Amino acid sequence: MSAEEMYQQMKVKLHDVVPDAELRIKAGIAAEINRLKKERNAVILGHNYMEPALFHSIPDYVGDSLELSRVAAKTTADIIVFCGVKFMAETAKILNPTKTVLIPSMKAGCSLAASITAEDVRQLKARFPGVPVVTYVNTYADVKAESDICCTSGNAKAVVESLKTDTVIFLPDEYLASNVAKETGKHIIFPSKSPAPAGERTLDYQMIGWHGRCEVHEQFTVQDIETVRAQFPDVMILTHPECSPEVVAASDYSGSTTAMIKYVEQTNAPRYLLLTECSMGDNIMAAHPEKEMLRLCMVCCPHMNTITMEDTLAALQKTQYVVDVPEEIRVRAYKAVERMIQIGGIGKKD
Ligand code: 13P
Ligand code: SF4
Repeated sequence: MSAEEMYQQMKVKLHDVVPDAELRIKAGIAAEINRLKKERNAVILGHNYMEPALFHSIPDYVGDSLELSRVAAKTTADIIVFCGVKFMAETAKILNPTKTVLIPSMKAGCSLAASITAEDVRQLKARFPGVPVVTYVNTYADVKAESDICCTSGNAKAVVESLKTDTVIFLPDEYLASNVAKETGKHIIFPSKSPAPAGERTLDYQMIGWHGRCEVHEQFTVQDIETVRAQFPDVMILTHPECSPEVVAASDYSGSTTAMIKYVEQTNAPRYLLLTECSMGDNIMAAHPEKEMLRLCMVCCPHMNTITMEDTLAALQKTQYVVDVPEEIRVRAYKAVERMIQIGGIGKKD
């Protein structure tokens, strides 16, 4: 497809969302990325948080962490370009050791993944022997390697319930763990720093959490929700389960990024507010101009925002930046990721 054809195609969805001059430039880059993608037998996976021009032009697949892991597990492409953050690209590599996995920016981290180390997990396992470890997919490979099973926001409840044990260690998101504990009726504790207090093992808990937080979702407050509801009483408010339990409780629906998109697509509220990364609202507006999306965009994910179309083109041109996972870590992490992929279920009201 020529740059002009690409521009015309992108304009249909993006004319209200991206300024025309920017759209022309991005269409030229998108056309070149799509040409190179074919030439190099590459597949581009785009997370739901990618900016609108990228999201609606170059990915072969878009989705939440769970959907993209499933696609990564099945692809026959030689190269996987992950337009998302590093833990997502690492997960693709864990599932595809023989393929080249590229991430357009090395700066695409995540505050949750940075909140815990493999040594932290080993210490928790020593402190709570025999208790299975569930780690959120928003962790690095060495942390996954210490886990029994991973989960995403799309299947966290189903993963915990699949374990059929009285107690689980659920790491590292304090809020996601609290939300899952609430949904499953489990009592959660956040253990104090070692040494463990006497009698810790006899406490009445079923989930053991950690103090990681998403630097984006932790910023939303119940006050934000009350302010918007006061102005728009008929607004439908959707939250990601990385928000605090109080914020989730004050919302109308909570689910993974894809679960939120589907919820907006399948309901007919007069207007919606998404308490999540800003780009997602823009992406829904572009695909569904008939939906009214309120904007509360004081928070964007600085990590997701490092992924640009320019860098995605450079990734394909220069085969950069290659994501690798040491084989000894990968084989152990693979078991936890593969087990997660088998378990479905999205959104608290699905
Ligand atoms: P999803 O798995 O819901 O796409 O979320 C990933 C993420 O990083 C949310 O902040
Ligand atoms: Fe990590 Fe939060 Fe950014 Fe998602 S939005 S990548 S959880 S910092």
